[in-house]
Amino acid sequence: MRRAVYPGSFDPITLGHIDIIDRALNLFDELVVAVVRNPSKNALFSLEERQDIIGRVLPGRDRLKVATFSGLLVKFVEAQGAHAIVKGLRAVSDFDFEFQMSLLNRQLNPRIDTVFLMTQDRYAFLSSSSVREIASLGGSVNQMVPPLVEERLRERFGLSEPGRGQTVDRE
Ligand code: PNS
Repeated sequence: MRRAVYPGSFDPITLGHIDIIDRALNLFDELVVAVVRNPSKNALFSLEERQDIIGRVLPGRDRLKVATFSGLLVKFVEAQGAHAIVKGLRAVSDFDFEFQMSLLNRQLNPRIDTVFLMTQDRYAFLSSSSVREIASLGGSVNQMVPPLVEERLRERFGLSEPGRGQTVDRE
């Protein structure tokens, strides 16, 4: 059984993440999407909300499990009986940091490999932080996240309809 772990903050999950999940499911028998409890980051959605949203936007993927973790990623991967970490790469700018992390993780456990999957070009500039910023300013994120996430963002930022709240400043 080839099991892999796809870790991240997923605050919130985007179409770019979902693309990586679907590609990883083509390569592995089972995939554990692992939502990190990261106390140093000020998350928009709680750990439980992020886990719940992921479960709801990925129905019917029976080889997929959604879990949460804290502490060292390699320890979680070991505990899951997995041997691979899946990471998405967007622009070259991701590479330096991801390269460092994968080497550190390999030092911590040489039996766990990191597998990098290239995003589709249409998601190359997509990130959860830009989605949060655009939504907070009333912009439409419907090309970037599933409808449920868009709805949750609107609720969180107190916006009623997609695109409403967009204003043009005139000075
Ligand atoms: O979506 P993100 O915020 O880029 O995900 C970052 C994540 C969760 C992959 C990273 O913070 C992580 O691996 N955290 C676990 C802590 C750990 O194992 N650190 C040592 C690896 S260098």
